[in-house]
Amino acid sequence: MIILSIKRLYAILYFMRIPLLAANWKMNKTNAEAEDFIQKFLKNEINSDREVVLCGPYTVLSKMQELLAGTKVGYGAQNFHWEESGAYTGEISADMLQELGCSYVIIGHSERRRDNNETDETVHSKIFAALDADFVPIVCVGESLIQRKNNEMVTVVENQLKVALDGLSNEQLSKIVVAYEPIWAIGTGETATPEQAQEMHAVIRKQVNEETRILYGGSVKPDNVVELMQQADIDGALVGGASLKSEDFIQIVNY
Ligand code: PGA
Repeated sequence: MIILSIKRLYAILYFMRIPLLAANWKMNKTNAEAEDFIQKFLKNEINSDREVVLCGPYTVLSKMQELLAGTKVGYGAQNFHWEESGAYTGEISADMLQELGCSYVIIGHSERRRDNNETDETVHSKIFAALDADFVPIVCVGESLIQRKNNEMVTVVENQLKVALDGLSNEQLSKIVVAYEPIWAIGTGETATPEQAQEMHAVIRKQVNEETRILYGGSVKPDNVVELMQQADIDGALVGGASLKSEDFIQIVNY
C-alpha cells in the first residue's frame, strides 16, 4: 500500500521521476540460484507505476537475458570497464554487456571503491562510457561512519559528485541515477532514518536536476521501505541483502 507525501507525488507526476527499485546481488547466486529466484519473482504481480532492476554477477547475465526477455523487469551488471577493449585482464566492456541485453550498470559502489581502487575519477570515466552505450548508470556515493561522526557527510558526498559528474550536460544528468549509500548502513542492519536520508538526498539534488532519480541504499527492508519512499527526494532503493530472497524483494518492489 503506497502512502505518498504530497511532495513525493509531485515529483512523480511533475518531474516524471518513476520509482526505481534495484537489486544488487553482489557476489551471490549461481545460475541455478538466479533461475530459482527469477522464476519465483515473476510469479508476482508488479505494481505498474515503477521500474524494477536486478543487478547480478556477470555469470548470471545470460540467464537473466533468457528469463527476463519480454518481462517488465530490467537487469544489469555491477561494474564494467570504460575502455572499449584491450589488455585489461579480468575486465568486462560495455559491448560485452550490451550483447547480454543489459540496460543498467552500477558504478562506484563503496565495496568496489574499498576493494578495487575505484575512485571518483574512474567513476567519472565509467559514467560517460555507460551513457555512450545507452546504459542507465547507477552511480553510488556515500560517507563512512567516521565521516558522519565528524559531520563531514555533506562535503564528502558533494566532492564525490563534483568529480564524478563533471562535464555532464543537463540532459545526461536526467538519464543517470544516483544512489546515496551511507557506508555505515550497508549490510549492517542500521538504516539511515528517513530524515537523515532525505537531508542527504536534498544535498545531492542540488548537484543533479529535478528529473534525476536518487535512490537510497543501506539496509533497505520490507519494513522500512515505505517510510523511506515517502520522502520528497527519495526516488527508489538499491537493495543488497534483502534482494536475495524473492519473497523479500517483491515486498520492497510493491511497497
Ligand atoms: P544492503 O546493501 O541492502 O545489504 O545494505 C546495499 C548495497 O550495498 O547496495
